[in-house]
Amino acid sequence: MNLEDHVGDIVRKGRMASGAAASAAAQAGGLTEAELGELEESGKAGKTVRWQALGQAIGLNGFKLESIAHGWVPAPPDLSRWREFRQLTTTANDITVHCYLLWDEGSREAALFDTGWDPAPVFKLIEENGLKLQHFFITHTHEDHIAGMAVVREKFPKAHLHTSAKSAPPQHRNRANDFTHVGSLRITNRDTPGHAEDGVTYIIGGWPDDAPHVAIVGDAIFSASMGRGNQSWDLARQKVREQILTLPDEALLCPGHGPLTTVAEEKAHNPFF
Ligand SMILES: [Fe+2]
Repeated sequence: MNLEDHVGDIVRKGRMASGAAASAAAQAGGLTEAELGELEESGKAGKTVRWQALGQAIGLNGFKLESIAHGWVPAPPDLSRWREFRQLTTTANDITVHCYLLWDEGSREAALFDTGWDPAPVFKLIEENGLKLQHFFITHTHEDHIAGMAVVREKFPKAHLHTSAKSAPPQHRNRANDFTHVGSLRITNRDTPGHAEDGVTYIIGGWPDDAPHVAIVGDAIFSASMGRGNQSWDLARQKVREQILTLPDEALLCPGHGPLTTVAEEKAHNPFF
């Protein structure tokens, strides 16, 4: 799977996060402003870029930028290690988004994380596997992640809703020390605002055969990039560092967009961290 953001998107986000002027960034990278604009648009530069200096000018790691420009992508994890766990992907309005479904093999209890544009593939999986949807977790309330919310709630009125949206009734709001059991799986949450005020990451442990922790991160971090700092770039970065990259290296990171990755991959390759 392609990265969510090509190297030009990453440079643009770095520039937004740092507040660096296009002229200064271009000069550092050995580019004209027009060439920087072309790089940010297409992800390609027609000439050699001084990645280290460009990275320094926009607060990103230049070595990591360069490896992304040369085609780095994370090694695809073998999802069959986590039983049972699925990624479901839907596209609308030119935006592709993932949601995630897990269940306990024995009890068939299930939990859904976001809905994507259309929950039809989720409903199919639930039906095919004879699952009981008991919990419904929201990573943040941006349209692409919750477009199917009304349909899910109508079809599964008893599934307990978990969200950090301030507008939600108190019984549905995440609290710091909540934990939820889905059979033998155990789900906790960590606040990861910055991209969205109600951004939260769900951590799942207790997998059969000691499979590593799974973190459903919403748009807090993407492989090689991060969600736009709509609320605050600094806060978003700080929360990813504190709440996500402190998980064990082998923890699986499941973003709303782009490929699956791990803590180790992002520590080694994400230019923002
Ligand atoms: Fe988002």
